[in-house]
Amino acid sequence: MHNPQKLHQFQKYVSWLTAILRKEYEPQGITIQTIAPMMVATKMSKVKRTSFFTPDGAKFAKSALNTVGNSADTTGYISHQIQLELMSLIPAFIRDKILTNMSVGTRAAALRKKEREAKAQ
Ligand SMILES: NC(=O)c1ccc[n+]([C@@H]2O[C@H](COP(=O)([O-])OP(=O)(O)OC[C@H]3O[C@@H](n4cnc5c(N)ncnc54)[C@H](OP(=O)(O)O)[C@@H]3O)[C@@H](O)[C@H]2O)c1
Repeated sequence: MHNPQKLHQFQKYVSWLTAILRKEYEPQGITIQTIAPMMVATKMSKVKRTSFFTPDGAKFAKSALNTVGNSADTTGYISHQIQLELMSLIPAFIRDKILTNMSVGTRAAALRKKEREAKAQ
């Protein structure tokens, strides 16, 4: 999904849908959880360097599994949760602007890299 605004709307929709499903299936003993992480170093994200804020897939998965049954809607990782809580203190219109600029910048850098790689071949 290339439009950051659409991605944000899609995430909101998934979160809302999951909350409805959770309410519907809870009485039957079925746990439905939303896990929406920040950056994880994986093949798909193309991020190789790990850090406090960017775990690798295995570290993230271990942490996310520990949240099952403890949290219905989570980022699944402590430093991601800190990021989310801090971001929620920023007014929505400023936060959206910052996130959109970051996403547009990331996409532009990825496209430049793709172009460089294509020229090098
Ligand atoms: N990484 C992040 O920062 C992050 C953050 C939030 C949400 N997510 C979401 O988490 C999900 C998993 O991403 P990830 O980062 O964990 O990626 P990942 O570790 O690279 O895993 C992606 C998986 O999808 C498979 N896959 C990719 N393209 C496929 C295709 N066309 N058909 C069938 N299988 C395909 C890959 O198979 P192969 O190994 O065989 O290629 C791999 O098993 C994605 O929906 C992503 O948007 C990721």
